Amino acid sequence: MHKITIAIDGYSSCGKSTLAKQLATELNYTYVDSGAMYRAITLFAIEYGLASKESVNAEGLIDQLGNVNIDLQYNSETQSVTTFLNGKNVEEEIRTMRVSEVVSFVSVIKEVRAKLRSMQQELGKRGGVVMDGRDIGTAVFPHAELKIFMTASPDVRAKRRFDELKAKGKEVSLEEVRKNLVSRDLEDTSRKEDPLIQAEDAVVLDNSDLTPERQLQIALGWVKERVV
Ligand code: DC
Repeated sequence: MHKITIAIDGYSSCGKSTLAKQLATELNYTYVDSGAMYRAITLFAIEYGLASKESVNAEGLIDQLGNVNIDLQYNSETQSVTTFLNGKNVEEEIRTMRVSEVVSFVSVIKEVRAKLRSMQQELGKRGGVVMDGRDIGTAVFPHAELKIFMTASPDVRAKRRFDELKAKGKEVSLEEVRKNLVSRDLEDTSRKEDPLIQAEDAVVLDNSDLTPERQLQIALGWVKERVV
């Protein structure tokens, strides 16, 4: 069957990666978590003293970009992504609040976006890819055959993210998680470079009240319409 490119964009923690992984498994496609790449660069910047909650040394980070090597490995059997930064497994660390609180400030840097965009385009070159993020349908794959714009209410999203972090044993409050989501939404939608916006030709999926099974059925219906 003809393999297409699927771009999934949307707000923080609205279930993009769940849907992307479901689709990748169902269709035997490659899954790429573009947010993990932004998180890995952010971790690099924090570790080199180039970024914190208070400030980002954009010039210093741009100078170091040649030394940032990111590799994503996706295991379709366990549906898990492992992110490597310069050969080190950083998967756990990039999901912590320490990184979440800084990632939006690093994501506004044009040169960071250009580097990651070209890596993402390379990964999607052969089609049969489902990639989630904020600018996939608008900047990375503007010609993707299927673009899904996902949304869910902030309360639903905060609760889901909070439960995820809690299950991993992380000490955070629901309010802290909610605040981080709302501020990242604002940063992501209002930045100058590739802001989060719904592509004109995207289909909208609000999954506030949908089960994972139902959301997969809906998305598979859209895929079907495009592969004939
Ligand atoms: O999907 P996520 O929450 O793991 O993404 C982390 C941050 O990375 C998000 O707040 C904004 C940034 N990001 C981006 O700017 N563009 C993308 N395509 C993906 C993520």
